[in-house]
Amino acid sequence: MKLIDGKQVAAQVIEECKQEIAQLKEQGIAPGLAVVLVGDDPASKVYVGSKVRKCAELGLHSEKIELPADATHEEVLAVVERLNADEKIHGILVQSPPPPQIDEDAIVRAIDPAKDVDGFHPVNVAKLALEDATGFVPCTPAGCMRLLKEAGIETSGAEAVVIGRSMIVGKPMALLLMGKDSNATVTVAHSRTKDLAEVCRRADIVVAAIGRPNFVTADMVKDGATVIDVGINRVEDASAPRGYRIVGDVDFDAVSPKCAAITPVPGGVGPMTIAMLISNTIKAAKLAQ
Ligand code: GUN
Repeated sequence: MKLIDGKQVAAQVIEECKQEIAQLKEQGIAPGLAVVLVGDDPASKVYVGSKVRKCAELGLHSEKIELPADATHEEVLAVVERLNADEKIHGILVQSPPPPQIDEDAIVRAIDPAKDVDGFHPVNVAKLALEDATGFVPCTPAGCMRLLKEAGIETSGAEAVVIGRSMIVGKPMALLLMGKDSNATVTVAHSRTKDLAEVCRRADIVVAAIGRPNFVTADMVKDGATVIDVGINRVEDASAPRGYRIVGDVDFDAVSPKCAAITPVPGGVGPMTIAMLISNTIKAAKLAQ
């Protein structure tokens, strides 16, 4: 069993980014990322903090805009419009999920597609489906594809099963796997899929993105399959330092002995997401010239 080391691959992506940042600097360009956080969800705060810290570490221009939990939809919209017009900002990310009074779809549609480094805007969703390389691919599935590539996993002709159909992971992941750079045969499974275990057992590649701890069990995975675990779930554990542990969507201890390759949680897909965000921000800065 090969453990796919997301920290190592993410470090490699960051190294590539550093070289591009240095080249842009010679032309007087500093890629800029704005991260908007509405409310005080603890997990979102941690994610936003690490995104902004990574930018600072790499010498990118970054801006963190924090709005209170009772901010109105119009207030968030006004922030997005200001950032759309700001030439120092090449990438805009509004951390999801926002509080319920915010119409998230409308916020995403208000972001200039050329600054949509999350790849959530309908223009970028369409570009992904069209395999138009000028679009932005959502960071987490882009990170998963890079992990498969670096681990030397053959996707062409492989049976891939994506569990989960979200716009952030499941749907874009399915498009990437079936695309011309990958050529997998893709099944998208979800909560209403009949005999999910049977569907999963067909897979050479399983991508688990359902958001339920230890959902993928050993009986659902074929011997020699590759498993990519996108889940980040908090489970209570009185013996853990903070009273909880982070586990994936895959029952790692039971599944890993059967796998050809598997990503751990933490240290698998997670570190890739920020690396791909930085990479998308650099791409946005280049395309803006
Ligand atoms: N919340 C969890 N993942 C993401 C992401 O990739 N982008 C944004 N904007 N919010 C998230």
